[in-house]
Amino acid sequence: MTQTATYTMDAFLDDVRQVFASSNDPLTQAQAVADHLKELLAVPGWLEERIDLPKEGGFGRKDLHFEEESGHPGPGWLLMCSVQAPGQDNLPHDHGAAWVVYGVYEGAIEQTKWRWFYPGEGVKSPRIKETGRFVQKSGTTAFFLPGEIHNTRNVAGVNGRSLVVRLESQKLDRVTRYQYNPENNSVKIMDR
Ligand SMILES: [Fe+2]
Repeated sequence: MTQTATYTMDAFLDDVRQVFASSNDPLTQAQAVADHLKELLAVPGWLEERIDLPKEGGFGRKDLHFEEESGHPGPGWLLMCSVQAPGQDNLPHDHGAAWVVYGVYEGAIEQTKWRWFYPGEGVKSPRIKETGRFVQKSGTTAFFLPGEIHNTRNVAGVNGRSLVVRLESQKLDRVTRYQYNPENNSVKIMDR
C-alpha cells in the first residue's frame, strides 16, 4: 500500500519560518501563511492531538506555538486556537501593525469588515461603517492586513461551537491596537 505523507503542525511551523525568512512584505507573508494553514486544516485530528478538547464546551483560548525568532513587524509570532461558544462575537477591532490569519477547523464564523468613512463619502462626520461580510466555513482561511478592521461572530448554529485557529504575525499583546464602536463612532485602545 502506498503511504501518503500527511501534513503536520510541525511541518506547518517550518513553512511559517520559511515565509518570514523569505519575505518582509505583509501581504506576501499573510497570503502564504493562509495557504499553508488551509493545507493543515484539511488534515483530520491534528488539533485534537495538540489540545485537550472536551466533547462539549471547553471555551476559551489555547496557545499552540510561540516563536520569538521571527515575526512582523517585530519578533514573536503566535499560533493559537480559540474555542468559541455559540453566538460568540466581538466589537470591530484592528490588529495594529500585525497581520492575522484566521482558519476555521470546525464550525463556522462570520467575518464582518469595517472602515472609516469621511465627508465626501456620504457622511457628515467621520463614521465607522461595515463594508462587507462573509462566512468562513470549516477548512477555509482568511487574513487581515495591518490596520484592517473586522469583527467575528460564531455562526456554527444553536449548540455549535467553533474551533478557530489564528496566526498572529506578532503576538497581539505586543502591538498597540484599537477597538471601534459603530454605535457612537468611538475608538479606544485595547488592553494588552
Ligand atoms: Fe481580529
